[in-house]
Amino acid sequence: MIIYIISAMIFEKIKKLEGELVLPGDKSISHRSIMFAALSDGRCEIRNLGLGRDNLSTIKIFRQLGVEIKRNKKICIVNGKGIRGLSEPQTVLDAENSGTTIRIMSGILSAQPFFSVITGDRYLVKRPMKRVIEPLSLMGARLFGRDGNRYPPLAIIGNPALNPINYNLNVSSAQVKSAVLMAGMYAEGTTEVKEPAISRDHTERFMKYLGLPVKVKDNSVSISTVKSIGAFDIDIPGDISSAAFFMVAAALMKGSELIMKNVGVNPTRTGIVDVLKMMGAQIEILNERNSNEEPVADIFVKGTGYLKAVEIKGDIIPRLIDEIPVLAVAAAFAEGKTVIDDAEELRVKESDRIKAMVTELSKLGVDVTELPKGMIIKGGKKYRCGKINTYGDHRVAMAMIIFGIVSGEGIISDDETSIEVSFPTFIERLKEVIK
Ligand code: S3P
Repeated sequence: MIIYIISAMIFEKIKKLEGELVLPGDKSISHRSIMFAALSDGRCEIRNLGLGRDNLSTIKIFRQLGVEIKRNKKICIVNGKGIRGLSEPQTVLDAENSGTTIRIMSGILSAQPFFSVITGDRYLVKRPMKRVIEPLSLMGARLFGRDGNRYPPLAIIGNPALNPINYNLNVSSAQVKSAVLMAGMYAEGTTEVKEPAISRDHTERFMKYLGLPVKVKDNSVSISTVKSIGAFDIDIPGDISSAAFFMVAAALMKGSELIMKNVGVNPTRTGIVDVLKMMGAQIEILNERNSNEEPVADIFVKGTGYLKAVEIKGDIIPRLIDEIPVLAVAAAFAEGKTVIDDAEELRVKESDRIKAMVTELSKLGVDVTELPKGMIIKGGKKYRCGKINTYGDHRVAMAMIIFGIVSGEGIISDDETSIEVSFPTFIERLKEVIK
């Protein structure tokens, strides 16, 4: 992509971000839309579905399970097979890079009267799966993973008569919580999951939207037996995790005025807004409304070019877990010492995002120290251009591009194809608003 190769020249000319953006559909809600639609009793229309590689892998898997799915850029039509209507796949299912796909699908596959194997790309096969194998085995499915049940591929012998469980997660994880809740729909009785701090609650909200017997109390969610899911239509809001890259760039570039329309502002996802505001960014949430049980709003950012350091740790971490790479970039330009801690989950994302950001930011001159569960970043102003690795990780790649824009020096990246995982139109959208 040309922007990297002649980076220094292009990047130094970018002074601010200005205009209006409409972002692709939220990746997490998109996965869940496809899943619930596939299990529903009829024709579902999904509007503004995210079309990143992760979401496409979920679509492909349901096609292999016998579900008819048609899509164009705007609308996706899923002809649901009913909660007990999936068929045994003839070959291995491939979640590619998508942790959400493999983990939540494990919950669904655990309840089917058939055998399936699900795997992923060279990054996904190194990500921990015991966290789903354990609760789903307790429910009565049989799951096997590589290296002592730790990693994919996962072989799953489903059990159509699962037992309900009462399960305490030791990490806050929406993927694991959702896997158990999905399996819980098929169990006779009530399945309850409790997590240490609340992770994104899109599955719970979706179940409520569909009228399913879900209950939420503090950090616990329960679901009782579901006999059928009615067909539905849904509008997916813009992805706040994609908006985050633009929020940081606009806040750091004086004179920027950027409005992002129709973005999901679910409180379990808005940690990025809270932290940027604490850092002194001028951000306004406008026109807040409800869309299919999810809060949606327009986000306005006015760039002052000044942010101050902040401490990011504790219960806020799950609310901004995917935004830490770009928050590390914000911290690199903020005045003072930013501490990010309690974010050990970052080590097992698409890459070890602590190591990745510490290594790559240091290459460009940032004063950054690695911590076991985070990092300390001393903000500065003048940085250099450099060759960086993205570790095949979409969020590292996009965060580093934002760094190159704000520093004005650019970056030269090894590979940017990973961006397609969540935001294939990232560069296109960027080009619309750089001034
Ligand atoms: C996701 C949950 C989070 C997040 C991921 C998407 C989801 O992962 O990092 O990008 O859609 O449920 P964990 O549940 O592993 O924390």
